[in-house]
Amino acid sequence: MAFRKFSHGTIERNVTLLAVLSLLVVTVGGIVEIAPLFYIESTVEKVEGVRPYTPLELAGRDIYVREGCYSCHSQMVRPFRDETERYGHYSLAAESMYDHPFQWGSKRTGPDLARVGGRYSDEWHVQHLKDPRSTVPESIMPGYAFLADRELVTGNMSANLRALKRTGVPYTEESIEKADADLRIQADANADATDLQKRYPKAQARDYDGNPGKTTEMDALVAYLQMLGTHVDFKAGAPQEQVR
Ligand code: HEC
Repeated sequence: MAFRKFSHGTIERNVTLLAVLSLLVVTVGGIVEIAPLFYIESTVEKVEGVRPYTPLELAGRDIYVREGCYSCHSQMVRPFRDETERYGHYSLAAESMYDHPFQWGSKRTGPDLARVGGRYSDEWHVQHLKDPRSTVPESIMPGYAFLADRELVTGNMSANLRALKRTGVPYTEESIEKADADLRIQADANADATDLQKRYPKAQARDYDGNPGKTTEMDALVAYLQMLGTHVDFKAGAPQEQVR
């Protein structure tokens, strides 16, 4: 009889007991799913070539987020044939490991941008961002001509990098210290970028917006776009994530 008292019927008729036992089940299930993640060394496989963003790319990324580009553009090529034929190699988890927050997006009014880096010239990007219909007549993308007029104002880039470091992005003390200088150097066609490229391999330094006298928001955004999807060298025998 003592056993019958604890039958399913008893549980279903007693709201408190049902709530307590449900909580117990969810807790155990949760622990089983979440706890292992704290013990395996890393949930995202590191892939060669993936590096933290340079200060200029980071500033461009902030503009991308500010302008809500993610509401029309995704940044994740899915592993399907139609996607890889159109956009290139599917996205690896490691490629967005330094994105806080990630820009995968959930809507594609426009194309995916995860591999747009290097696909067009800087001039094309500037022209397209200023007036999308001048390069793609049927485009419904809004224009962002004002970005070319606005001076890039970032505040303290070192503090920005330090905050990201706290979330796990491996910026060195040197790159944090030189963040503001690095930002200017990358947008200046005449500056010596050797040091910058040591800290950020493959970083491209030049005047992006065709207006060398001024570092604008357009410089930063185009620098960001031209870098997207270019960190990993897929031609040299596609580095694959290990499948667990
Ligand atoms: C209202 C939706 C919308 C918004 C917002 C939007 N775009 Fe677009 N974008 C599109 C559409 C549609 C296309 C495809 C037609 C074209 O190339 O203009 C496109 C194309 C592009 C392309 C060319 C991609 C390729 O592979 O050809 C880039 C780069 C781009 N957008 C960047 C941006 C950036 C950066 C922002 C934010 C500043 C932005 N877009 C905001 C809709 C949008």
